[in-house]
Amino acid sequence: MRQVTLIPGDGIGPEITNAVKAIFEAANVPVAWEEENAGQTTFDTVGELIPATLIASLNKNRVALKGPITTPVGKGFKSVNVQLRQMFDLYSNVRPAKTTKGINTRFDNVNSVLFRENTEGLYSGLEMFDERLQISDSVARLTRVGCQKIVRAAFEYANKHQCKKVTAVHKANILKSAGALFLGVFNEIAKEYPHIQADDKIIDNMCMQLVIKPEQFDVIVTTNLFGDILSDLCAGLVGGLGVVAGANIGDEMAIFEAVHGSAPDIAGKGIANPTALLRSAIMMLHHLDLKDEANRIEAALEATLANPEECTGDLGGKANTMEFAKNIISKL
Ligand code: NAI
Ligand code: MG
Repeated sequence: MRQVTLIPGDGIGPEITNAVKAIFEAANVPVAWEEENAGQTTFDTVGELIPATLIASLNKNRVALKGPITTPVGKGFKSVNVQLRQMFDLYSNVRPAKTTKGINTRFDNVNSVLFRENTEGLYSGLEMFDERLQISDSVARLTRVGCQKIVRAAFEYANKHQCKKVTAVHKANILKSAGALFLGVFNEIAKEYPHIQADDKIIDNMCMQLVIKPEQFDVIVTTNLFGDILSDLCAGLVGGLGVVAGANIGDEMAIFEAVHGSAPDIAGKGIANPTALLRSAIMMLHHLDLKDEANRIEAALEATLANPEECTGDLGGKANTMEFAKNIISKL
């Protein structure tokens, strides 16, 4: 048994994690969950957004599955997601976006994986505000080492999965310093992978290309803010945030998470779609080298998604969260 930290999260988090737990149990996955929560729920009960017991569990297990977390609005509350990424140097945010049979979208041939730098850039936390002059500075700091790590992660992934092309996305025409550093590192590392086509696009053009001809992209690598925006754009091409997986990966730890939020509007109703979290859990199984289990669950999920009536309301079906999970289990 491999022990994994499970962070149920807030809102619909516990409902979708229960669905994933049921599917894992039915598939006899050799994973033992160690449940430790974070976010609004723990803030209300123990006064901490990220309890020390969770940090200890993460340090011990090094792998986690995480539900969505509500970020309380107000001064002093830093996003739990951003804090976890920076605390454990989870520098790669990996977001696959692939067309699914049964999910109605404008395109039928999208298959890309986005690597977003997860700890630097505009999200470095270097923020200053001059009250007197009313001037705000948000520093988008990049480091050579940080660029090297994310670019290498993208090329290593492309190499391992026989992807033809890696596209770097930047704004080097305007951002002379950051753009030159990121693109320079990309071109240097690309030379080590001569069998993979290295391409680069300026962010604004990239947005247009993605909504016109998304099938031209394979692996995409970019800095934090561009990646945040592009990853949701890519999710929109394949059915939205309810169906795409995400992973935050560092050298020492990996946290797999649904990329949607805690959906307070439907929380507690038992109707949330567990697909995004289940797909993140399948990525986690690959990370744990449990390939057979991953493939079996994925096949059952895809077969269920192919019949929208067996899915939750957001996908046009009539099932609630647990009925959807049972439909997947029946196909294992
Ligand atoms: P949201 O993703 O929670 O909801 C947006 C819309 O999508 C809502 O109508 C919701 O019902 C629907 N939706 C989301 N996930 C769904 C699912 N699995 N099945 C069916 N419908 C689903 O985004 P929103 O409302 O902007 O944020 C709510 C809270 O979540 C905020 O506190 C925000 O900070 C937090 N959040 C947390 C994230 C994380 O932990 N990774 C990511 C995004 C937001
Ligand atoms: Mg985002």
